[in-house]
Amino acid sequence: MSQTPSHALPSYLDPNHLGPWGIYLQQVDRVTPYLGSLGRWVETLKRPKRALVVDVPIELDNGTIAHFEGYRVQHNTSRGPGKGGVRFHQDVTLSEVMALSAWMSIKNAAVNLPFGGAKGGIRVDPRNLSQSELERMTRRYTSEIGVIIGPSKDIPAPDVNTNAQTMAWMMDTYSMNEGATATGVVTGKPIALGGSLGRVEATGRGVFVVACEAARDLNIDVSKARVIVQGFGNVGGTAARLFHEAGATVLAAQDHTGTVYNPAGLDVHKLLAHVSSTGGVGGFSGGQALDNAEFWGLETDFLIPAALENQINAGNAARVRAKVVVEGANGPTTPEADDILRDNNVYVVPDVLANAGGVTVSYFEWVQDFSSFFWSEEEINQRLERLMREAYAGVSQMAKEHKVTLRTAAFIVACTRILQARQVRGLYP
Ligand SMILES: NC(=O)c1ccc[n+]([C@@H]2O[C@H](COP(=O)([O-])OP(=O)(O)OC[C@H]3O[C@@H](n4cnc5c(N)ncnc54)[C@H](O)[C@@H]3O)[C@@H](O)[C@H]2O)c1
Repeated sequence: MSQTPSHALPSYLDPNHLGPWGIYLQQVDRVTPYLGSLGRWVETLKRPKRALVVDVPIELDNGTIAHFEGYRVQHNTSRGPGKGGVRFHQDVTLSEVMALSAWMSIKNAAVNLPFGGAKGGIRVDPRNLSQSELERMTRRYTSEIGVIIGPSKDIPAPDVNTNAQTMAWMMDTYSMNEGATATGVVTGKPIALGGSLGRVEATGRGVFVVACEAARDLNIDVSKARVIVQGFGNVGGTAARLFHEAGATVLAAQDHTGTVYNPAGLDVHKLLAHVSSTGGVGGFSGGQALDNAEFWGLETDFLIPAALENQINAGNAARVRAKVVVEGANGPTTPEADDILRDNNVYVVPDVLANAGGVTVSYFEWVQDFSSFFWSEEEINQRLERLMREAYAGVSQMAKEHKVTLRTAAFIVACTRILQARQVRGLYP
């Protein structure tokens, strides 16, 4: 008996509150017309391969028992093991982890890394836990998801509120359970445990590399370009420094403490020192304070959002006077704002391409762990630059071919690669 294919949502999601997964599904629908005969396989992208929900019980320091909800989702592993971060946040939901895992599939395929997409998280506010409670929770969570992770199955990494120490605990727990040291089970580890040189700066460096490629396409001279940056942390601070060192003028920087502006250019090295001693850009003497809302309307060549989601939205997108937006953050532009920027001829280099430098050096870390042979920082940066330039070239070529934005083009490139792998592998059994 023939059966009509089912397009139903999984029963564990509320169709009226789809959350981030709903946005992801819309994005897949938008690229489906460009997938040709591979469209036959597109349902593969619309459901995660595997979603694990675990209970994470720990004994608190005061002797009571607390239970936390943990997740690990492997969206797609057609092109290689799952890869994606672990987030500790009180608002984590299954829908969010599913969407983040799917975006990792897209990012890894857009940059052509041999990984699928995965993501994990625990629904917890880690600020309420002591360091030893955090360690117990991380270890129990790792043990619970241990059945589906592993150096050749799924490789977690840091994300919101997790860091190199979290990865060290995860690596140790997994290794203890396996009975053998397995450095390649996570990336973003401390250097002493097989972490990679260059990882800390990798995302900001990747942002700078793709910005230079976009500049070449648009005939912008980077050494004379003006740049504004939102978020002056790991990603924004590194990207700003590389622009500054290339001769560009960093006009303004905004973070949670305010906005500083200097029409003659901020001294980025001094600003970085100010941020590391005071915690933010606010109060920097090498510039004037600017109203946060005015930041978005500054005339500039590059605008780098490198802080939070939804920062460029229907409320401010029409005021953006940048030639190029390079998305250092994940999801900084809402879909409405994206359309406004497109109509105003603002060239947007999307997050799945622009901030892929981090996962690219995570890939290098995994390769180095497998071979137990470590590369110099110079080699790592050279390889990162080459992969990012190639990824940009492939996506920009696709954008020209179909006359679509770089975001749609990145999705076409990525979905095509994933579904080609799906098709040639075939269905088991
Ligand atoms: N670090 C990575 O390797 C990496 C990789 C891919 C994507 N990202 C994304 O890049 C973004 C930044 O990550 P990061 O690692 O630089 O984090 P970070 O914590 O080092 O820096 C975050 C910055 O955002 C600023 N910020 C916070 N709230 C703000 C607000 N309300 N208004 C303005 N600025 C605000 C902070 O002041 C800080 O300067 C995030 O979206 C993250 O998901 C990071």
